[in-house]
Amino acid sequence: MTVVDLDDLFAEEVIADPYGYFARLRERSPVHWNERFGLWIVSGHAEVVWLLRHHELFSSAVIRTTSGPPYPPVDPEDLPLFDEIRSFRADQLVEQDRPEHLRMRGLVHQYFTPQAIEGWRPFVRAAVADLLDDIQPRGSMDVMTDLAAALPVQIIGEMMGVPREDRGHLREMADQILYINRGEPYRLRPLVEGVRGILEYAEPLARERAERPGDDLISLLAQGERAGVFTHNQVLVNTGLLLFAGHETTMNLICNGLLAFMRHPEQWRRLRLDPAEAARLATEECLRFDPPVKSTQRVATQDVELGGRLIRAGDRIRWIIAAANRDPAVFPDPDRFDIGRQPNPHLSFGAGIHYCLGVALARLEGQEVFRALAERFEAFELTGARLKYQPSVQFRSLESLPVTWSA
Ligand code: HEM
Repeated sequence: MTVVDLDDLFAEEVIADPYGYFARLRERSPVHWNERFGLWIVSGHAEVVWLLRHHELFSSAVIRTTSGPPYPPVDPEDLPLFDEIRSFRADQLVEQDRPEHLRMRGLVHQYFTPQAIEGWRPFVRAAVADLLDDIQPRGSMDVMTDLAAALPVQIIGEMMGVPREDRGHLREMADQILYINRGEPYRLRPLVEGVRGILEYAEPLARERAERPGDDLISLLAQGERAGVFTHNQVLVNTGLLLFAGHETTMNLICNGLLAFMRHPEQWRRLRLDPAEAARLATEECLRFDPPVKSTQRVATQDVELGGRLIRAGDRIRWIIAAANRDPAVFPDPDRFDIGRQPNPHLSFGAGIHYCLGVALARLEGQEVFRALAERFEAFELTGARLKYQPSVQFRSLESLPVTWSA
């Protein structure tokens, strides 16, 4: 492979199958300078963990500290919209460093503890059952739109105390925000519409909950403004973040996981032997094997050596979950999909101080979906054309997943 090939993160074959590409890169150099995009690629499990545990060396404020046009390119007349997206993203929790990050996260953390989230299991189970009751008689579905995209907004909408009749509107905005991850040159327009939509939608809710707080998530954020932890804009932006952080990610968990099962029917049969018992470990293996988030970024705060390479202050770094999760130094037979795998120290939710806030909820939704599907369906079969993925280095997102089944 030539150097250019090795650096072409957006090549069609890399988007279609990132695993072979990142395995080659990891073997050659787990910390690699990508000349084409001007950033470091960290692909070894040990190196990624080290990086994430040293937040003082690697800042999360990527939007504020880096510049450059969007990639893939957008319509030139839409470029001013890019600044609006950048300022929306810059105020999100995930973009903050300490000490602000610690204060903000401390405020919302209590809502997402495993114990607190476990209390939502009956609600999630019922929501999955309702969706499947509706889908099952049809005999076929697009797993993406009919199931995977429908569930997360329903659940988080309930946690936010959003009126049920507004769920359709939330879903529309969530679907517009998915354009963040696409390749269409016009994508900034629907994206900005979604972002403006959520800020406008959240405004009166946040004001009302600041006056009359309930036990929902928006009330928690609004109280944070009163306590001086969030600015008003940060309340709105982080309402948006919490609404949508679980949308695309959970969608991908459900679709990528079900696809892995379709390609490994013996593992599906294994799940079906005892879905209630097997769903927990199976969900972890789905997360490892084809992770919803392929990679995210950091910026070095000072010169630092990692994997024998010198990273300079101000350099951008992409850490690759899809590579670390298949590192043979940590996972025996890493390309095997094995739903009994244990231990399974995958990095699909990151690590360190920014470890996914919604991890318990994401797991719960995955477990309940895979369990319910295994209880109801003997086998799934793909229908329609060749599967395609969104041209993103950040997310591993199918465009659609049309299936039929035998019950
Ligand atoms: C399968 C589903 C999910 C996956 C794979 C996932 C993955 C991740 C990853 C990799 C990070 C770390 C980002 C970084 O360090 O730069 C993260 C952070 C975050 N996630 Fe998730 N996530 C999922 C679901 C959710 C859900 C359901 C929510 C909320 C309801 C959520 C809220 C967040 C938030 C707020 C952060 C930022 C945390 C911080 O900066 O302290 N995620 N997620």
